Amino acid sequence: MRIIGIETSCDETGVAIYDDEKGLLAHQLYSQIKLHADYGGVVPELASRDHVKKAVPLIKQAMADANLTPADIDGVAYTAGPGLVGALLVGSTIGRSLAYAWNVPAVPVHHMEGHLLAPMLEDTPPEFPFLALLVSGGHTMIVEVRAIGDYKILGESIDDAAGEAFDKTAKLMGLDYPGGPLLAKLAEKGHAGRFKFPRPMTDRPGLDMSFSGLKTFTANTIAAQGNDEQTRADIAYAFQEAVCDTLVIKCRRALEQTGLKRIVIAGGVSANKALRQALEMLAAKRGGAVYYPRTEFCTDNGAMIAYAGMQRLKNGDVTDLSLEAKPRWPIDQLNPITNQ
Ligand code: KG4
Ligand code: ZN
Repeated sequence: MRIIGIETSCDETGVAIYDDEKGLLAHQLYSQIKLHADYGGVVPELASRDHVKKAVPLIKQAMADANLTPADIDGVAYTAGPGLVGALLVGSTIGRSLAYAWNVPAVPVHHMEGHLLAPMLEDTPPEFPFLALLVSGGHTMIVEVRAIGDYKILGESIDDAAGEAFDKTAKLMGLDYPGGPLLAKLAEKGHAGRFKFPRPMTDRPGLDMSFSGLKTFTANTIAAQGNDEQTRADIAYAFQEAVCDTLVIKCRRALEQTGLKRIVIAGGVSANKALRQALEMLAAKRGGAVYYPRTEFCTDNGAMIAYAGMQRLKNGDVTDLSLEAKPRWPIDQLNPITNQ
């Protein structure tokens, strides 16, 4: 069976074709970074308009790359939420229309389930059960994953997501949008130990997190210490160290609580090398292992939507003629997948 996946929930238009026997056949991605750079963040209306322009050409290109015609496609998956509602509506409308025209099922996909399952596209995918640390621009959560669709949220950020904290902190340090990767790069030149940032909410029990205070701490540190190149790098280092350390402390607790050994990290911030290393040390100490997608599939992409869509298609989780776009959609409200 083959499915085409369409991702338009934020500022990336992604399209991919997945075959349940041969794996990924094609994937196309267009990033809107340049479009939003002047504004220092995603402008929802511009994002929607650009998805309208890019989605169909990318679909045509992916079909050509895979050398397929519509008759070869068994379903059309699209991100139905969570995300920016206008952007979601573009993918939802195009996906639903294509499915109607091609006379195949339309499959609404949960964006975070897409991220969560992205490591399944790699050569050594994790076995179930595992602990998933989902760290994107919009969400930060620790999820106990017993099987596909069997998700228990153990903890989440009560304010900024980890990626959002990276981006906002980067912005106030004068870095371009999206600041996360740039801040991580700056941190490579930073010296350990010069600044010590707080590890929010680690002094109390529980798995919830809070990252919004770290940007204020950064602003205060800049005001007190100046903004020369080495100081900026040292601040970036201390900020990143605090985020990673906090996530590691919470993941350690979650592993202890659940008895799980495998950790999956997914979502944009899973591209962060320091976070991967820190979690690898944690897993190694406990005789486990860490799994993450290849770098290009850490951030938003069509491949993860095609993969998750295939699992949902096989489970019969298809939609009728109605359009679905859910800006908010709790991941623990999905149907469990039977016959895994
Ligand atoms: O998953 P994603 O592409 O979009 C959402 O679903 O939100 O995640 C994007 C987020 C942005 O906040 C971006 O700054 C962050 O992931 N990010 C990083 C890195 N690469 C991307 N944050 C820290 N270090 C990185 N290397
Ligand atoms: Zn995402």
